Amino acid sequence: MEIKGKDSSAHTTLLKANQDHFDEQATKWDDDPEYVKVSRTSYATIMHHLGRFLSSRDDDHPPTNILNFGCGTGLLEDQLRYNVTSITGIDISDGMILRMNTKIQAESWMNVTALQMDILDEAQASLLPVQGFDMIISCYTFHHLQDVTAVGGALLKYLKPGGYLCIIDFAAASTENNDVHYHHTQHDHQQEQDEQQQTLGMKLSEAAKASIGSHDGFSKRFLIDYYQSVLDLQNVTVEDATPLNCDGIEYPTVIAYGQKKK
Ligand SMILES: C[S@@+](CC[C@H](N)C(=O)[O-])C[C@H]1O[C@@H](n2cnc3c(N)ncnc32)[C@H](O)[C@@H]1O
Repeated sequence: MEIKGKDSSAHTTLLKANQDHFDEQATKWDDDPEYVKVSRTSYATIMHHLGRFLSSRDDDHPPTNILNFGCGTGLLEDQLRYNVTSITGIDISDGMILRMNTKIQAESWMNVTALQMDILDEAQASLLPVQGFDMIISCYTFHHLQDVTAVGGALLKYLKPGGYLCIIDFAAASTENNDVHYHHTQHDHQQEQDEQQQTLGMKLSEAAKASIGSHDGFSKRFLIDYYQSVLDLQNVTVEDATPLNCDGIEYPTVIAYGQKKK
């Protein structure tokens, strides 16, 4: 299993590439039906797996304050804001945050905040309340990171003890993933399945390069180890999430969640 080590110059280079790419994408992001569809699937996945921990801001449940890391233009916030007390979206791209702030103001999203920041920059991250969030969510952002160990650690500072970290991202299409992810595959279909996974792995690699990603996706084994051994989380669950169908290709996805120890 590879967890990339801290390398600040590689972090800065990839961060800048992501900033430039997503700044350029920001104005047209919401016009792409694929991205809208992805955000609907993410919302449904979160409600299915974690909905029981959320609460409407109008009912008597305890408050639920969410941090969404790599929030983009706020497509998830637009849906999830009804189920929670507050959501703070953070993103490295000024363009994405500008789009989200425009929607917050135009549509009076009273319980949503959008902030541009690098979570690894302590001065910028100091805008966030330490141990201020009941749940931290991140959808399709971790594969853009150079250093998932550093980012995961930095995010946990803002999670309450007992709170959940939830990552949704592409599932790795490597053999490392097969025995876990594809354990239902019938033996006589294994070779065909492996070939399909190799093809998908190449496609994910190409997609990752095109969208300045750092990882092709994450295997369940990687995520379990990352959650348990690296981030020291408990009650860890890593499961298949609804696959994404983009441009006719079906990408397997994974959801991981676990609880910060009290
Ligand atoms: C594929 S988009 C997903 C956006 C949103 N989560 C969604 O599902 O619609 C990835 C997002 O991660 C952001 N991002 C990439 N690297 C980041 C980093 N190091 N810190 C914060 N945000 C980052 C990008 O600016 C972009 O908005």
